[in-house]
Amino acid sequence: MTHAAPQPIFRHDYKAPDYLVEHIGLVFRLDAEATRVTARLTVRRNGTHDRPMLLNGEKLVLDAVRVDGEALAEDQDYSVTDRFLSIARPPAAFVLETEVTINPSANTELEGLYVSGGNFCTQCEPEGFRKITYFVDRPDIMARYTVRMEADKARVPLLLSNGNRIDQGELADGRHFAVWEDPFPKPSYLFALVAGDLAGVHDSYTTGSGRKVDLSIWVQHGNESKCAHAMKSLQQAMKWDEEVYGLEYDLDLFNIVAVDDFNFGAMENKSLNIFNSKYVLADQQTATDTDYSNIAGIVAHEYFHNWSGNRVTCRDWFQLSLKEGLTVFRDQEFSADHGERAVERIGDVRRLRAAQFPEDSGPLAHPVRPDSYIEINNFYTSTVYEKGAEVVRMYRTLLGARGYRKGTDLYFQRHDGNAVTCDDFRAAMADANGADFGQFERWYDTAGTPVVKAQGQWDAEAGTYALTLTQEGDVARHMPVAVGLIGADGRDLRLRLTGESIDGADSTTRVLELKQKEETFIFTSVNTRPVPSLLRGFSAPVKLEMEESDADLAFRLAHDSDGFNRWEAGQKLATRLLLARLKAAEAGSNGPSAEPLIDALSAVLDSGIREPAFAALALTLPGEGYIAEQLATSDPEQIHAVREALRREIADTLWDKLQATYAATQGHEPFAATPAQAGRRALRNAVLAYIAAAGRREALNMLLAQYQDSDNMTERLAALTLLADETAPEAEAALEDFHTRWRMNPLVMGKWFAIQAASSREDTLARVLKLTQHPAFDARNPNKVYALIGGFAFSNPARFNKADGSGYRFLAEQALAIDKLNPSVGAHLLESLSRWRRLEPGRASLMQEELRRVVATAGISSDLYEIASKSLA
Ligand code: TRP
Ligand code: ZN
Repeated sequence: MTHAAPQPIFRHDYKAPDYLVEHIGLVFRLDAEATRVTARLTVRRNGTHDRPMLLNGEKLVLDAVRVDGEALAEDQDYSVTDRFLSIARPPAAFVLETEVTINPSANTELEGLYVSGGNFCTQCEPEGFRKITYFVDRPDIMARYTVRMEADKARVPLLLSNGNRIDQGELADGRHFAVWEDPFPKPSYLFALVAGDLAGVHDSYTTGSGRKVDLSIWVQHGNESKCAHAMKSLQQAMKWDEEVYGLEYDLDLFNIVAVDDFNFGAMENKSLNIFNSKYVLADQQTATDTDYSNIAGIVAHEYFHNWSGNRVTCRDWFQLSLKEGLTVFRDQEFSADHGERAVERIGDVRRLRAAQFPEDSGPLAHPVRPDSYIEINNFYTSTVYEKGAEVVRMYRTLLGARGYRKGTDLYFQRHDGNAVTCDDFRAAMADANGADFGQFERWYDTAGTPVVKAQGQWDAEAGTYALTLTQEGDVARHMPVAVGLIGADGRDLRLRLTGESIDGADSTTRVLELKQKEETFIFTSVNTRPVPSLLRGFSAPVKLEMEESDADLAFRLAHDSDGFNRWEAGQKLATRLLLARLKAAEAGSNGPSAEPLIDALSAVLDSGIREPAFAALALTLPGEGYIAEQLATSDPEQIHAVREALRREIADTLWDKLQATYAATQGHEPFAATPAQAGRRALRNAVLAYIAAAGRREALNMLLAQYQDSDNMTERLAALTLLADETAPEAEAALEDFHTRWRMNPLVMGKWFAIQAASSREDTLARVLKLTQHPAFDARNPNKVYALIGGFAFSNPARFNKADGSGYRFLAEQALAIDKLNPSVGAHLLESLSRWRRLEPGRASLMQEELRRVVATAGISSDLYEIASKSLA
């Protein structure tokens, strides 16, 4: 079979649906190999036309079709292909009934109805509902759902769907049934069903207006004790949304189900959220502080979708960022309010720069609201999610918290119950505030990371500071640039722009509204040379370029009142040194001295224990990927070598202080997953990583001691991660010990795969290859695939990018194999081969070779085809 290139779908081709579905009654006769699904659709023609009704359907065996109770004749009244069911001449209003058979056990794509851990569950976003029944599977069809499930009572005691349970009872032959009804009309992608044998953990939440909501988390038997953190996070999220957005929950129950096999993090199905168990289960022994924080963020994210996504949904999938960008921004702020704001913000920006910036400068770049796609599954990207969140954040920065809230109030009130667009959100922001967001549309329709150049001029005589901001490229965007000026004493100046009255707005951070390609802002009463602090809080998702001396950077790392910029100053200092050393290495010389950086890091260590989470971030050098991003083309192995050499130099020079900090960060209190304790552990682990980098014998013993003696996974795993870089037999023994201990826990085994995949050992590829045959590895389980194969491809630039291309070949082979089971996972893995233009020519051509091989392979999915072909372009 040759590949007929799959055709793209264009945003501009949107048309209102020909037929609307008001109600859908579903009956499931659940069986692992042959589930019967009967659907009864109440349909109304939309407008005046005589077009057929086209329903999506994939991997369905059609058993019967009826219109208003009358069986239809194939070819004459209806036709069916492997993708569509077409009803030839339906009346203006009618009831359409279909009966189909599906095979949940054979479903390895994990879309539609499938079996995980012996339980039935569903994943319908974006286009999985069509694998359950024939339907007009697009988000602007909002119907009310009644769902009846029938199953064997002993093996499948639990029957859940969206909304409220309105009936249940016994059937013959040991079977039983339940009927659920969702009072809120919803798009098909929010449908969910869970059926099986699960343990429930129960609690409740009472809303501001007094509605008592029953909360349940459903997990595999034996995992009940690992749900407390998720439950508490859910309650906090419900409260936060009332306080910050004035949004209350709207039903009497809310269910979360954890499953081991899941393509993403979690899914916001109405009142029945389904989660990857990785983002539910946690205890001291098995989860890291990062896991705890991810769980809180994702539980909140899915809960927040109840309004931003479910009550107000997307008209079409091009508008995906309408719900995802907004909801990520909401979960980021939830986390900032429950943790350390600056630390959370640094985390957001690190993720954006690690994933979104490279995406935005490579062949897979697309706007926040894309113009076309081949496979919508490929557009659940960091651009749509994380850059989308930055775009929403900019509204708030431009409008202020109160103006932003006026905007969201209007948005939810205007569009409740509707499927809308990104333009509708923008209009609500504008209308509620009498603001002009015309130019702001560029953030939605233009790909690429803007570059902003800044130049400052202090005029001692006039006492002014003139700041000129220039946007590169041909599109000028509307963006907030938050600015502070720091005086010689390290304190912020009170800022006033020319023309402002004395009692006008003066504060220490001013949000400048940049709209032109070039604008100059003049601050008055600046009587000493200020050190500018620009783009505070990372107020716009841009690359800021400004000349700044090492001394000013070190000064800001010590004094900037903006936590994000304080960190940023240190990163800039380190990046500059690393880039200079790389250049020197090419010329065979040593490069500049590390003294200014080491002095600055030494000062960070001095005050580290007082703000440990921040110190841990400030001590950590920019990642290898971020360094590569600063270069037109690079050699990842060289970057790794130069960065490691610098880490060793820092560790050698600061050895005594590192030891002192390590001792001072020893935990004494009983474990709690609090931000304070997590911060202390983060600093301890950052310091341990330096100690390991020094490569002394005593370091190995410290790693082994921390591995053995810790009472929590955060410290244990950090030590084991460092041990995994070593070839000493004791290090191997520790890995073996960990395996023996946690063999039966799939989430912990995921960590075990991931740290070996990210190891800097020379023989990592061979070890990864061997691990693909390990009994705990399972190519059908996305968590394991992302841990081992994804870990190698995305978290190990030095070994993945080996000059002989062996890493690329391995990855292409794995992506092709996974594609046969799960196209969405295979395609995500293949994205690791998309950035060949940024590699030196030898590696670039080896990478392209693998992409060409993938494109030429017969029978690949449209998911994989889209990534491979676009990556080559
Ligand atoms: N909407 C989900 C979220 O909260 C994302 C998601 C879950 C998803 N499962 C998926 C996207 C499967 C695509 C395919 O962000
Ligand atoms: Zn989401």
